[in-house]
Amino acid sequence: MPNLSKIYQKERWDYLSQTKNGALMIEGLSVYDIVKKFGSPVYVMVERAIRERFRQFKKAFPYPKLRVQYATKCNSNLEIMRIANEEGIELDASSVGEIILGLLADFAPQEITFTNLYKTEQDVIFAARIGVQAITANSLEDIELIESAGKKMRKKIRIFLRINPLIEIGDYSTRKLQYGIPYAWYKRACEMAMKSKHLDLIGLHFHGPYVYNPRVYFRAAKKLFSIAEYLITHYNHRIRFIDLGGSFPVAHGDLQEVFQPEDMGKDFTNYFVRKAYEIGLPLPHMVFEPGKFCVANAGVGLVKVISKKRANRLNTLIVDGSTYAFLPDPIIYDCLYDILPATKMNRRRSTHYQVAGCTCDNIDILRRNVHLPTIEVNDLLAFMDCGAYSNTMASNFNSLKRAPMVMVNSQGVPRLIRRRDRYSDMFAPELDVLKMADPQEMKRYYDLWRVNIGKLWGVRKKKRSTRMSTGLLDTGAHSVST
Ligand SMILES: Cc1ncc(COP(=O)(O)O)c(C=O)c1O
Repeated sequence: MPNLSKIYQKERWDYLSQTKNGALMIEGLSVYDIVKKFGSPVYVMVERAIRERFRQFKKAFPYPKLRVQYATKCNSNLEIMRIANEEGIELDASSVGEIILGLLADFAPQEITFTNLYKTEQDVIFAARIGVQAITANSLEDIELIESAGKKMRKKIRIFLRINPLIEIGDYSTRKLQYGIPYAWYKRACEMAMKSKHLDLIGLHFHGPYVYNPRVYFRAAKKLFSIAEYLITHYNHRIRFIDLGGSFPVAHGDLQEVFQPEDMGKDFTNYFVRKAYEIGLPLPHMVFEPGKFCVANAGVGLVKVISKKRANRLNTLIVDGSTYAFLPDPIIYDCLYDILPATKMNRRRSTHYQVAGCTCDNIDILRRNVHLPTIEVNDLLAFMDCGAYSNTMASNFNSLKRAPMVMVNSQGVPRLIRRRDRYSDMFAPELDVLKMADPQEMKRYYDLWRVNIGKLWGVRKKKRSTRMSTGLLDTGAHSVST
């Protein structure tokens, strides 16, 4: 890791370095340049790190019929999906919206599985009509729903049964999960699927909460293979897919050591092959649906310090990102992101800070305690490992715009892959139906943020009546191109 202060070095951040003046660089590109060009807050995704993760996952399981399906929900940016496609990865979609994104990213329908908990009959008909690889049935009611859609379409719909294997390993338990058909009911589920003229049961599926012990996958596979065996002995039916979902862990903040897919890949593959052999099942496709594993460590969130405050014996830095519009995980999962002083990398750490987001909510705390050099207003902070479940879970709370996303390639060249929200995007759902403003009026006000406010007020004072005709309000006066 060239030039990066030792205290900040981590193997997974091999794309980081720093300038002599202490500015963080991502693939050799200074954070100053990124923020100058795209504004802040901004998500920066490192292309090389994403590609490496996809390759690492595929390589970890030496199985001829491995299918890796990227869980779109964790970062559904079209460019990231395009890269997944290029790397020979398929897609796990959790809604019709994600199926459409998959098609836009040039995935063939049969490379997409539709695996959400809740779906309407219309969703099922849409997915079946375009011909997705399979739709997961998450409950007995879901089997009925998909069956009734198949009946209407006069078509056999390919399904996976999503099973809750009811496993417990240490603290890990799937017993209380709301998703999946409980293992105790699998015979009933198999009977419903096998009796139906409109269902083609091609696979079995499991996805559980975050996995920190690879034994979970072995245990789940064991249960799925026992159902596969039941289908052979009772119905002479051989499934073709065993899908073990996602939930591979990623190192971040307070969790620096996690198992890697290659720590289990070979053993798991041997186990999988042995199980298939034991029950006389021709080798099925082994499916995984990793999400955060593929992109979390490839993401850096840059925020600017907009204010400092000393109160209640706390040094608080207020930044222009928030847990609502930028990094929701600290309030959803108590996630502690590593924070780097992106413009003070060469200074000694001296102060403990609390980092607060910029909304009005007292729970909007990005980090309660982080040791940093003395930080000033306008300094930048880098939130590390935030490439998953950030943008896709962010909201416009406080009518804040969600941040742009920039992809930096291995030569350090940045490319905007999602622009910043515009007020016109954010307000349209209401303006469209309430008709409170005509499009001209909207045009006048949206993206006011981009306007040089000083200039605007100056103009207003002198030439109040011609304020709108200056064009300042419409175009924005500075160079932020997001
Ligand atoms: C069905 C399914 N597969 C895969 C994933 C991806 O999980 P992760 O990002 O933890 O790998 C999810 C996440 O919720 C999911 O619901």
